[in-house]
Amino acid sequence: AFVPVILAGGSGTRLWPLSRTDQPKQFLTLGRDLSLIQSTVARFANSEALAPLVVCSERHRFLAVEQLTEVLGTQFSIVLEPAARNTAPAIASAAWQVMQNDPDAVMVVLPADHIIDDAEDFLASIERAVTIAQNGALVTLGIEPTSPETGYGYIQSGDPMDDTLDAPRIVNRFVEKPDRIEAQRLIASGNCFWNAGIFIFKASVFLDSLKKLELEMHEHTRVCVENATLDLEFVRLEAESFNQCQNISVDYAVMERADNVVVLPYKSGWSDIGSWDAVHKATQRDADGNSGVGDILHHDTQDTYLHSSSRLVVAIGTRNISVIETSDAVLVIDHSNAQSIKAAIEHLKSQK
Ligand code: GDD
Ligand code: MG
Repeated sequence: AFVPVILAGGSGTRLWPLSRTDQPKQFLTLGRDLSLIQSTVARFANSEALAPLVVCSERHRFLAVEQLTEVLGTQFSIVLEPAARNTAPAIASAAWQVMQNDPDAVMVVLPADHIIDDAEDFLASIERAVTIAQNGALVTLGIEPTSPETGYGYIQSGDPMDDTLDAPRIVNRFVEKPDRIEAQRLIASGNCFWNAGIFIFKASVFLDSLKKLELEMHEHTRVCVENATLDLEFVRLEAESFNQCQNISVDYAVMERADNVVVLPYKSGWSDIGSWDAVHKATQRDADGNSGVGDILHHDTQDTYLHSSSRLVVAIGTRNISVIETSDAVLVIDHSNAQSIKAAIEHLKSQK
């Protein structure tokens, strides 16, 4: 058995204008039946998983309860962070929480906002990773890179650990978000994977690594869980100690620096849908490559993604763009510029 730990504290600015501060990406459905966080927990429906632990911000607590209740009934708990401190303090607090019930429990840490379509294959990989983690490794799922993306962590792996198909590999080097040249070099060197941001380890093993690498965070998160207050289904971390944690991701704080990291190659579909271009690619398209959501009409278009929230959206003769309509903002974006949205939103915020 293992505990899914769902990281749902991100602000997800890249899918603006649909994702907003009050409704970040993990709570969006993007034209599917379930929201991204609902799909994340629903994937474990027929598995050995225990009730998931969701870590998110105070701000989204009711949204989280509502969406989780729809798919899980009462079988979940929510850890509330007093402030956003990135993923390392979130995972560390979850680890202390998990330790209270069972120090030997394996945590399966998952971002709440990825698309993974083959639940069966995914579960098989997770179960394999859980077995490896029980022997004391920090396991991460590795995706075969298709381009020198700079938004991912890269894993340079050593030899396979056994002779099975897609065997786990020792990690020689973990490089979080390299620049383009470094990314190209890593890919050219072979045996390289993208870090999927999905981590599998025993709570005690993670905390031992944290103690060696980030002693202060180890202590602050221990105290914030020890002094946490229970309120309905919420575990509210004590602010004073939690807020003293450094704002740092688990990739920089632990994965890059730990020596017991193992990568398990994952070959089925995975997307972190970090852009409208990626949403388009992850959506069922027609023969001309068009897709979309809501009240939309394509005429003579190619590779065009349309999202309508409240009005009819029509595209004529376009290619390689997305149009996202919401009640108070409309975005038109060329897919070749899909990554520049983050900078554009920052610019917009600074002007408002
Ligand atoms: N609870 C909580 N608190 N969750 C958080 C916080 C926080 O302060 N910050 C981020 N998260 C959640 C996000 O909602 C997301 O689900 C997950 O943690 C990962 O954070 P991102 O901010 O999306 O990370 P990233 O995409 O830049 O990089 C990570 O994921 C890549 C794959 O998508 C890294 O692990 C990379 O190495 C990896 O390649
Ligand atoms: Mg991400």
